[in-house]
Amino acid sequence: MGAHTWEQLQAPAGAVALPDPGTTASSPWREVLTRQLNAVPQERRRQLRVLAAGTGARLQRDDTEAEPALLDLASNDYLGLSRHPQVRAAAAAELQRSGVGAGASRLVSGSRPVHRELEQRLAAWLGRERALLFPSGFQANLAAVGALANRHSLVLADRLIHHSLLAGVKASGARLERFAHNAIAALEQRLAAARARNSERRLLVISESLFSMEGTSPDLGALAACCARHGAALLLDEAHALGLLGPGGRGLAWGLEGSGKAALALISGTFGKAFGSGGAFLAGDALVIEWLLQSSGAFRYTTALAPPLAAGALASLQWLEHREAQGESPGHELLARARRWRDALAAAGWPRPPGEGPVLPLLVGGDQRALELQAQLEAAGLLAVAIRPPTVPEGQARLRLVLRRDLPAGTLPRLLAALGPAPTPP
Ligand SMILES: Cc1ncc(COP(=O)(O)O)c(C=O)c1O
Repeated sequence: MGAHTWEQLQAPAGAVALPDPGTTASSPWREVLTRQLNAVPQERRRQLRVLAAGTGARLQRDDTEAEPALLDLASNDYLGLSRHPQVRAAAAAELQRSGVGAGASRLVSGSRPVHRELEQRLAAWLGRERALLFPSGFQANLAAVGALANRHSLVLADRLIHHSLLAGVKASGARLERFAHNAIAALEQRLAAARARNSERRLLVISESLFSMEGTSPDLGALAACCARHGAALLLDEAHALGLLGPGGRGLAWGLEGSGKAALALISGTFGKAFGSGGAFLAGDALVIEWLLQSSGAFRYTTALAPPLAAGALASLQWLEHREAQGESPGHELLARARRWRDALAAAGWPRPPGEGPVLPLLVGGDQRALELQAQLEAAGLLAVAIRPPTVPEGQARLRLVLRRDLPAGTLPRLLAALGPAPTPP
């Protein structure tokens, strides 16, 4: 199998043959899996594709470079930091110093100076007392919910929160109620009802700063104040907001004051997006972070974040701080550019991508249509991915276009040309 072209590692969406009952391979669990797999409709099948090592903003289809490059309009490397020389140099230097992997959990022998420095600088940057690193945002979210809820708790979550947060709620055993997207009045009613039923119950509210599939943000001041009024803890996932929203890219929670700030028990952030690295963190006051350290299996029973990734994330943080000190605001510039892209798509007759962020969801309705547009763009050398249910609600398949700071000039007209004529309204 060629290692450097687009590859389809899984069989195309054809049906899988049920095992022959006469062979040793046949067993009840195989039959169940085969039936389950065959129940996934063709247009919902996921495929693993392998990209060659990219060069800058472009992802080569083939490392002979004979093939045209695909311009990446899909990744979450919003600020282009994954290939920034300072970030690469920091990761490379740490690689030489510490090796590739940490070799053990943070609580065994996996802690390095770079972990501690990154935790301290993150906490200071975010105005929180402490931060704790995790190997991924998925794990950080599992740990965060586990620290703030148990089987006696009620969790109220925005209808569109990330899968990792839902997995955390499930693992905690808490009861889950979901409220309409960003609907603080609906949340307030549910919190009031929950408090009226039981004044002692632990309540946890979960939301995100920038919902990447929608490009929307909650009114965080109102959300946090609502949690404070009802004695609920708030867990806020800032995965897509860090580096972009707030002064210096500090996220939506920066600037919360008083009881709202106190209600915000934990901020969750990942380095896999605007920070251009990998790994994640939780930030909060010393009490919550100490509790995580003492109790969290997701923190304790996992190999520490690879030191080169921590060093890359630290260099990205320093880059953000430096830009701010220079009076620059790369995140805000990107958001301004995203507005221009939204305007241009709407002016060309496409449904205006909702929201504000660098992810521009082009809502095209059917799964098939989203896949056709993906293929059409790919033929024109552009990489954008069709997002289908269950990742988004039924009937809301979309082409997910992601704007990055380091995209070459002329990308927007190229995209508009590749999309072709906009659909005529019904
Ligand atoms: C909102 C949100 N939270 C958490 C995560 C998980 O982060 P990570 O990729 O570091 O596991 C993601 C990434 O897909 C995300 O979009």
